[in-house]
Amino acid sequence: TPPAIIAPSILSADFAALGAACSDTIDNGADWLHVDIMDGHFVPNITFGAPVVTKIRPHVQRPNAARGKGTFDCHMMIAEPKKWVKEFQTAGCDLYCFHYEAAITSTAAENPEDHTETKTSPKEMIRYIHESGMLAGIAIKPETSVDVLWEILESPKKEEVPDMVLVMTVHPGFGGQKFMTSELPKVKALREKYPDLNIEVDGGLGEGTIDQAADAGANVIVAGSAVFGAKDPAGVIRVLRESVEK
Ligand code: DX5
Ligand code: ZN
Repeated sequence: TPPAIIAPSILSADFAALGAACSDTIDNGADWLHVDIMDGHFVPNITFGAPVVTKIRPHVQRPNAARGKGTFDCHMMIAEPKKWVKEFQTAGCDLYCFHYEAAITSTAAENPEDHTETKTSPKEMIRYIHESGMLAGIAIKPETSVDVLWEILESPKKEEVPDMVLVMTVHPGFGGQKFMTSELPKVKALREKYPDLNIEVDGGLGEGTIDQAADAGANVIVAGSAVFGAKDPAGVIRVLRESVEK
């Protein structure tokens, strides 16, 4: 299993003091920051966009170390993931994680006048993200079978293979939901086939659920309310890491 990567979700941070929340979280031992982008279409909630990412980016050093400390892991819960790749790269996103279910894009990315919808295959999306200079992640919702991922992970073209798979362990849209153990077999199946793959879990992770996720094989751990709601966020980050590394 690859190294543990702890990625607190700033969705549960104080939005009025987001820059300080980001730098404090890194100082508290986090590896990455998980940045939840929601558009009110793909999910029934709205968060923030690239201008906010641009403003918080200078509060955290760009990644350079082994675990990519300081990586901005942008979880794109948006209906048109292709349209925003360049803008988020410019804003300072390091890993652009799109949803498999949303790999549909309007040709508006190329021509703002044209609103016809065309499918962009996940592999095209991954290639496009790589060409834009970011790591690429692909996320699946609880409704989506893990089986859709095999063909993508088996692509003979390296530039079409994702750097990370995100298995959602809640229905995306809100922080503070209950962890869905029903999603763990997906993690297990991925880990059995891919010992070196970065497998991220997101939703309901905390001290009470981390062991199950770690046992299934997850190594990239998102936690929002568990970290930002804690009296001792550094302690929670430590527990999450120890559980993955044990
Ligand atoms: C939910 C988001 C999560 C969320 C997790 O749609 O993708 O990243 O912040 O929050 P917790 O850890 O509180 O479940
Ligand atoms: Zn997320």
